[in-house]
Amino acid sequence: MKPKVLVTRELLPEAMDFLRGRADIEVGISSGNLPREDLLKKVSDKEGLLPLLVDAIDREVIDRAPRLKIIANCAVGYNNIDIDYARQKGILVTNTPGVLTESTAELTIALILAVLRRIPQAERFTRDKKFKGWALDLWLGKDLAGAKLGTIGFGRIGRAVARRASAFRAEILYHDPQRTSPDIEMFYRATYLPLDDLLRTADIVTIHAGLNPQTHHLISRERLALMKRDAVLVNVSRGPIVDENALADALAAGKLWGAGLDVYEREPEIEEKLFSLDNVILLPHIGSATYATRLKMAMTAAKNLLQGLRGETPDNPVG
Ligand code: DGY
Repeated sequence: MKPKVLVTRELLPEAMDFLRGRADIEVGISSGNLPREDLLKKVSDKEGLLPLLVDAIDREVIDRAPRLKIIANCAVGYNNIDIDYARQKGILVTNTPGVLTESTAELTIALILAVLRRIPQAERFTRDKKFKGWALDLWLGKDLAGAKLGTIGFGRIGRAVARRASAFRAEILYHDPQRTSPDIEMFYRATYLPLDDLLRTADIVTIHAGLNPQTHHLISRERLALMKRDAVLVNVSRGPIVDENALADALAAGKLWGAGLDVYEREPEIEEKLFSLDNVILLPHIGSATYATRLKMAMTAAKNLLQGLRGETPDNPVG
């Protein structure tokens, strides 16, 4: 008998085909997000669960699923899962590292350039037929070349961003709880700084850290105040790492030059004050959103799931 699995939301077709032959699949919902009540009901007889990052897999869900062996998250971040409780219950948890690194780094660079060169604002201006000819001071922005780019988090994605930013001739600073080796620092031409020093020094601060109790509101009101007045903040990791309300206040008061956000504290809600600000670019959590990458994420999660169900050690365990 094939193991019973809940895939909370229909994945891309190739991944569904791969899973269908190998497990007894129930798809929670074909599009959108699975309502909580349905998740609680549908998980109860399952041995495997493949959730998305929007599905909160907490104690209540885990307690409803006495047969559950594995939770194979379709994301690299796994802050949506109570991994301590899962571990306590002997349930494996996996994620999808590696496969989304390049796409997320590309989006980060795109967002940095969009903020620095005010691309969406200038595009709207042109579309609104306001372009009346070349002018010396039309939509003046900032260069990435020569800027000090500080990455908070120097794992796979932070490094992939650093590589790209180096090609643009930015100077690379980084902060990470674990300082890397001198060889790696030399390879990336990256300088380690304590967090507060990085915030005081960088022209562009980009966040590539996981969300956990230590990183919640890591960029607090006080830390935002350390940043240069003409600095830019970019976040493509997890929203709650930044105090969104404090960021909106800093942007409104001109205490920062600009920001680029792909993630929010209470997704899909966004701090209302941000909508009226012209110095912030808001994206809908699309860091990894290319077809190829989303398929790789789904396939990685599916493979981890099947490995766990077969009693093997999955490729990407966490916790
Ligand atoms: C992840 O995998 O954690 C990303 O946020 C998805 O884009």
